[in-house]
Amino acid sequence: MLKKIAIYIHIPFCSSKCYYCDFISFPNMDNRVHQYVRYLLKEMDMYKDVMKEYKIDTIFLGGGTPSYIDQKHVEGILKYIYDNYNSSEIKEITIEVNPETVTYDKLKVYKSIGINRISLGLQTTKDKILKEIGRRHTFEDFLKAYEATRKAGFENINVDLIFGLPNQTVEDCINSLDAVVTLGVKHISYYSLIIEEGTLMDKWHREGKLNLPDEDSERQMYHEAIKFLESMGYKHYEISNFAKEGFKCRHNLYYWKLEPYIGFGISSHSNIGYKRFWNYKDYNKYINSLQMGHFPVEGEEYIDENMKMLEYMIVGLRLIEGVSKEEFKNTFKIEMDDIFGLVLDKHKKQGLLTEENGNIKFTKKGLDLSNIVYVDLLPD
Ligand SMILES: C[S@@+](CC[C@H](N)C(=O)[O-])C[C@H]1O[C@@H](n2cnc3c(N)ncnc32)[C@H](O)[C@@H]1O
Ligand code: SF4
Repeated sequence: MLKKIAIYIHIPFCSSKCYYCDFISFPNMDNRVHQYVRYLLKEMDMYKDVMKEYKIDTIFLGGGTPSYIDQKHVEGILKYIYDNYNSSEIKEITIEVNPETVTYDKLKVYKSIGINRISLGLQTTKDKILKEIGRRHTFEDFLKAYEATRKAGFENINVDLIFGLPNQTVEDCINSLDAVVTLGVKHISYYSLIIEEGTLMDKWHREGKLNLPDEDSERQMYHEAIKFLESMGYKHYEISNFAKEGFKCRHNLYYWKLEPYIGFGISSHSNIGYKRFWNYKDYNKYINSLQMGHFPVEGEEYIDENMKMLEYMIVGLRLIEGVSKEEFKNTFKIEMDDIFGLVLDKHKKQGLLTEENGNIKFTKKGLDLSNIVYVDLLPD
């Protein structure tokens, strides 16, 4: 029987670079789009034999901003997959879009080619903050984009928000969430701002120019959001993710449950069986490698059983339901406690972990202090 797999496709183009973002994306590089898509298809073709062993369950077109490129390219990519990989049982196809690049016409095409989930980047509803973080759209633009998405026939819609932004208050965060909830959005990703090295925000932070919320306010932004979203019928199912019944992101569950996934495109990562590999982040290296007929892989790693168990715990604990002891045993043929018992007991006593229905999971306090547990899980 064929194994199920999730496919990630990276589209590294945006209209401009947001000040906080370090995803691999090139602002205003239209001249590269044709070439990139051509080589992306070539890369996918090189994996044709590997892909014979799998049937595709989910596809995620991420970025960058996939809605930045012409819809005919998105169509071409999906057509390649439909024609060449086992595609008859695909359950979910997501595309990331942003308010300034997505249009009703693009959305209609997405719908017609089988895309059934839209992820819209908003970040905050406050226009002043949007401007300060380098977003090129207003809240009004987002509302228009959302309306177009609904009009094009999409129901399964995610909205990305960020908390802990400069000059943001707890009230701002709840207002943003409230606005999104009022629209009836089915899935909300609510990320804590990370100041990524090399970004403009990182520079301003080092120069002491950012008015970031203090740690207590930042945690309050998280806890109040959980309370609010749960009261509005959303399930908090992963550290940063909330969904209405039946609308969890199927694709991301592959990452959190360490199920097989393969990434195509610059900087994408793959995890198949005991092998993990990642593509070049550098545009020219990615293209040159494919021109020479080589896989554009920058590095690879074979994961031994111990490493795999450790990763299984680390990514699995991101899920609010935690990691099932029974599933652990079925996967690794050994009890979770035989490997991690001492660390788990220590953190249960300290109130960071708890056991519920045979699952090990973070407590509310543990969600804030997860790094302490992760560090302890690592081998000496
Ligand atoms: C790759 S972006 C794709 C969405 C689309 N390009 C957009 O920005 O609207 C995915 C999401 O990651 C989040 N993100 C990016 N950089 C972040 C950072 N430094 N800290 C927290 N969240 C971040 C944002 O919420 C963003 O919408
Ligand atoms: S947040 Fe989205 S739009 Fe902004 S630079 Fe990153 S990928 Fe591009």
